[in-house]
Amino acid sequence: MTSAAKPLQKAELKKRILGVCKNALKDLRRVLYFNTLYVPFAKKKHANINKLTQRSQKHTYTAFNRSPGQLDALCGPVMEVLRGLDQGSTLQINILAGSIGAEAYTVSSTLASRFPNLSFHIHCCDLHEETIARSKSGRYTKQEVHGLGVTDTFINKTFNRENNEYFVKPELKEKITFFPANIVTDDLEAMYPKADIVLMQNVLFHLDDEQAEQAFENGLKTAKESSVVFIDGMSLDMRGKLVERNKMVPLNYRVKEIHEYARRHVPDDWWKYYYGMEPYSFLTSNKLNRYSTIFVRRV
Ligand SMILES: C[S@@+](CC[C@H](N)C(=O)[O-])C[C@H]1O[C@@H](n2cnc3c(N)ncnc32)[C@H](O)[C@@H]1O
Repeated sequence: MTSAAKPLQKAELKKRILGVCKNALKDLRRVLYFNTLYVPFAKKKHANINKLTQRSQKHTYTAFNRSPGQLDALCGPVMEVLRGLDQGSTLQINILAGSIGAEAYTVSSTLASRFPNLSFHIHCCDLHEETIARSKSGRYTKQEVHGLGVTDTFINKTFNRENNEYFVKPELKEKITFFPANIVTDDLEAMYPKADIVLMQNVLFHLDDEQAEQAFENGLKTAKESSVVFIDGMSLDMRGKLVERNKMVPLNYRVKEIHEYARRHVPDDWWKYYYGMEPYSFLTSNKLNRYSTIFVRRV
């Protein structure tokens, strides 16, 4: 080793240690301050933002593998619950507001990979003709595919690659029917088959309260009497109220982890966005109903 290399290595080491310390301090600040002391103020600010901000149904942000914890739940306890019900030979999954198809293709790929002999079909709607056209094409850019929690294994199982484009494998595509629908005003019960699993995720917080409640009840009508419902991305107060009203039972599975992971798709200063969500709080009395995103329904 040359004598010039030694000071360089030392400087690099110092830079790295400083970097680690800075990140640790940032985490500490987040946990001690933003996730605890600041929360009551942040909740007030968030409530105000909710009152003042106009919702947008044009917000189409989505991601492949958006919630790895939910996918583990789907393949584990959710399948266990449904197996116990013995509902028929083909598992029916209804996705409401699936944007450009990432959610439906993620579910299709995950189920096909984990249960190669499972017969299933997915029906998925969205409001806009463009998002439905994108979904049907099954064709994505590198930027759309790569993201938080998207592994090479998932990519290889889901897509064929040509140049810099990603094409969903035909055997996964054929398991999905995409169609346009308005989940607030359309008669979803007539448009969807009855499902074992319904997903209405990250859409209800883009609707006014009245519309969100209407969409929730409308979506629920597409579920079988015994079924499992995934509902992330909505007002936590409203979720608590609606699941109680509909006698839905929260699935007690990695609730905190799934809630906190969902928050990673929203900026850290969540209180500035109507679609932001408070951090998980152990002090909340109805934690399971408030933070769970998966509910079992038995009518
Ligand atoms: C933020 S994206 C969420 C997509 C996906 N569910 C996910 O979790 O990644 C919200 C989607 O809801 C759709 N949407 C908004 N209002 C709707 C409505 N009234 N009926 C159907 N889809 C709607 C938007 O077009 C958009 O694609």
